[in-house]
Amino acid sequence: MVLAKSWILAKHFDGFPKDSDFKLKVEELPEPKDGEVILEAVFLSVDPYMRPFSKLYMKEGDVMIGTQVAKVIQSKNSAFPVGSHVVSSCGWRTQALSDGKDLTLLMADWPKDVPMSLAVGTVGMPGLTALYGVEAVLQVQKGETLLVNAAAGAVGTVVGQIGKIKGCKVVGSAGSDAKVAYLKQLGFDEAFNYKTVPSLEEALKKAAPEGYDCFFENVGGQFSTIALQQMKEFGRIAVCGGISTYHDAAHQTGPYPLTTINWKQVKIEGFMQSRWKSDHPQGLKKLMGWVKEGKLKYYEHVTRGFENMPAAFMGMLHGENTGKAIITV
Ligand SMILES: NC(=O)c1ccc[n+]([C@@H]2O[C@H](COP(=O)([O-])OP(=O)(O)OC[C@H]3O[C@@H](n4cnc5c(N)ncnc54)[C@H](OP(=O)(O)O)[C@@H]3O)[C@@H](O)[C@H]2O)c1
Repeated sequence: MVLAKSWILAKHFDGFPKDSDFKLKVEELPEPKDGEVILEAVFLSVDPYMRPFSKLYMKEGDVMIGTQVAKVIQSKNSAFPVGSHVVSSCGWRTQALSDGKDLTLLMADWPKDVPMSLAVGTVGMPGLTALYGVEAVLQVQKGETLLVNAAAGAVGTVVGQIGKIKGCKVVGSAGSDAKVAYLKQLGFDEAFNYKTVPSLEEALKKAAPEGYDCFFENVGGQFSTIALQQMKEFGRIAVCGGISTYHDAAHQTGPYPLTTINWKQVKIEGFMQSRWKSDHPQGLKKLMGWVKEGKLKYYEHVTRGFENMPAAFMGMLHGENTGKAIITV
């Protein structure tokens, strides 16, 4: 008999999530049937998309959406033998029954000296998001100036480092001095704390008086409006996310002044990493290669204990994390 814990969305978030929006549930899992496996979570991930997606794709009483690195502990599916590790999108659960359809086996040659938690971080969905945004959407070129906000997070740290690998000048913004110091350590050319600079406009100008060729947009709202004015002619913007708008319905309309986009002939392209789903295996190999070569460094903000998942999620939304926010069971 396997007892499984899960976190339920007790109440749809109204503004910033709060403790009472979540409820812990315990249930007994049935025995796996043919084709099924039982998983045990090893590393769980909290990600910003869970905030807007909860409204779009969940109803109250559903298990919180999310991915995890899990170990197969019982198996009636030969594709996933007992002891193998998978990435699963079964949500915030300690154990789960799966028919295998939502599972991806970890790379067979996952190096022993690379933490498996990276499969939901730098060598997982956030890393791929950065890779596709920089290579396929922005198509950054050597010598160009690349701006990324939320730069010290899971996606932003990878964006900036890929920008450096490609020979760009990289500018990042983040919400604390410690994060700014970390960005410098990663090789960002310029970094600033967007919460304490007297003027965002001046900070962006000072970091790149020449203007920006490429902008990897993670934040939205006021930051976008101001950064847009610093774009060069024929600049490119990859709209990856808008975390500053996720809690406020009023901000979700028209963060970009369209006239400027028009006059400067800026190309803006929204994207979801899932567009390149068939490229994931090659993308992950590339990211892992850079990790092994020491060109792509990673950092994780680890919260211990499944019971602390809501706190970890809210902490990430508040900016407590440097690098990827991870939960160990
Ligand atoms: N399009 C896709 O396929 C895709 C896939 C993954 C992620 N995303 C998006 O990429 C962005 C980054 O995601 P992530 O997983 O890398 O998260 P993350 O950066 O690891 O964590 C979120 C960070 O956002 C920053 N933040 C929170 N509120 C903010 C605000 N009001 N203004 C500015 N910054 C704020 C905080 O850092 P500070 O301390 O710097 O404020 C926080 O640490 C999000 O917008 C997410 O939705 C998109």
